[in-house]
Amino acid sequence: MADTGDLKSPAQFRAYGFESRLRHQRPMGRGKDNIHVAEACGATGRKRASWSGHIAFVLAAAASAIGLGNLWRFPYLAARYGGGTFIAVYLCLVVTLGFTLMLTEIAIGRKTRQSQLTAYGRLHGGWGLLGLIATVIPFFILPYYCVIGGWVLYYLKAYCVMAATGAQLMGEAASGSGDFFSAFISSSFAPFGYGMVFVFACAGVIVMGVRNGIEKSNMVMMPMLFLMAVAVSLYVVFMPGSGAGLKYYLVPNLDCLAGSDGRFSVALLGKTVLGAMGQMFYSLSLAMGIMITYGSYMKREDSIERCVRRVEVFDTLIAVVAGLMIVPVVYMFAVKTGTPVKEAMDAGPGLMFITLPKVFATLGPAGPTFGAAFFLLVAFAAATSAISMMEACVASVSDLLGLDRKSSTFFTAALVAFLSTFSALCYGPWKDVTIFGMQFLDFFDFVTNSVLMPITAAATCVFVGWVLGPRVVVDEVRAEGHGFRGERLYVVMVRYFAPALVTAILVSETCRAFGIGGWRI
Ligand code: TRP
Repeated sequence: MADTGDLKSPAQFRAYGFESRLRHQRPMGRGKDNIHVAEACGATGRKRASWSGHIAFVLAAAASAIGLGNLWRFPYLAARYGGGTFIAVYLCLVVTLGFTLMLTEIAIGRKTRQSQLTAYGRLHGGWGLLGLIATVIPFFILPYYCVIGGWVLYYLKAYCVMAATGAQLMGEAASGSGDFFSAFISSSFAPFGYGMVFVFACAGVIVMGVRNGIEKSNMVMMPMLFLMAVAVSLYVVFMPGSGAGLKYYLVPNLDCLAGSDGRFSVALLGKTVLGAMGQMFYSLSLAMGIMITYGSYMKREDSIERCVRRVEVFDTLIAVVAGLMIVPVVYMFAVKTGTPVKEAMDAGPGLMFITLPKVFATLGPAGPTFGAAFFLLVAFAAATSAISMMEACVASVSDLLGLDRKSSTFFTAALVAFLSTFSALCYGPWKDVTIFGMQFLDFFDFVTNSVLMPITAAATCVFVGWVLGPRVVVDEVRAEGHGFRGERLYVVMVRYFAPALVTAILVSETCRAFGIGGWRI
């Protein structure tokens, strides 16, 4: 997140004392810091910070969007839902539904120049509640996000130890069977401890206010992550025997949609679409208002449409490359060990932590170093996303409770630490405690991705499509003479398809959770 990408409201400008600091900054000459005070005045008549240009916006939005969602969640969903088939469905959704939702949020932000908490209410008095729901969502995601960040740290440490001492913590056998991973997540203290390190590291960065530092490290880390991912995936592509796995991952294959009787199953197609949709919200950081806040710092000279397209391209590219590192290998190992492919592909959240080590184990002496570098970069991608999410929480806490930055960071970190305890211990000491049959981590994932985010997204579409009218957004996109190539698509999507599709997620996921209509899968 850039310098002031986290200043949520005029109140916070005051609270953090940023306004005067920003005024003294030279407008453009700050290179990557990307921020200067816009001439345009916000709705309140105060000056509001803005990105220096569309590249700055795209980078900041991409840094927030690219995180564990791309590296950890996308590959396991792609594996589960038939590889190429999932990718095809995902791509169709990104260019239609994802485009519509992201464009809407950014346009609302730029038009109102407000954060999500107040933007809806400003457009229409009766819709303020929606802003509140969007604001609450990161509080549910962040705790379990940090727990998984802790898993990444644990792996990072293990690889560093192996690289430094030559110890064999994770030979092919241990990583292959998943013992290393399951011993870790089922232990009673380690997942909690590492999760806490992650939470407080993020909080430390926020409280120090080194947004410059974050932004700069983003600029270095994100390209490095990309190169690293490309290197690992090339290695996988050229591994002997990877052909069938690559085909599974990249070529859409209708067999994946066949039910147990071998015939095309509509339910399976439905599940694939729903899984892809949930992933899309998550990965593009949609439906929790982050993009509203980011949009509110955008200048009117920049084209919203072009920015949205670029963020989507970056985010999707990283996700697809991440899958390329993992899915073909799972396939290969399944064939080698005689496990049914379907079963191996259904590994779920453990996929990255169990199968990537297998790849690293085949690299010989270079493996541990490669593994350490890889998990370091995953940790950074996760941290930049978590920090921007935490920043949103800190900002809301300080808005709602009127606390200063330090106290609201402390309050938020304590709350997140408390909430993450549940997710940290849910595979260990508390593995028998379930909510609606789900363990805590899965439950938090479900409540956000399957319930709260669809509600926010559907309500936003109804709000824009029917209450305000799509013209409001279209005019904002067309401001300053910009074209809008996707206008027709946008209007149809926002009024009809988007609310329908998103409501479908909500209904089916709720049915699934409660086992209504035999949907428990
Ligand atoms: N998109 C992030 C990822 O892929 C996760 C995320 C969801 C997020 N919503 C967010 C990050 C809001 C920052 C802000 O990992």
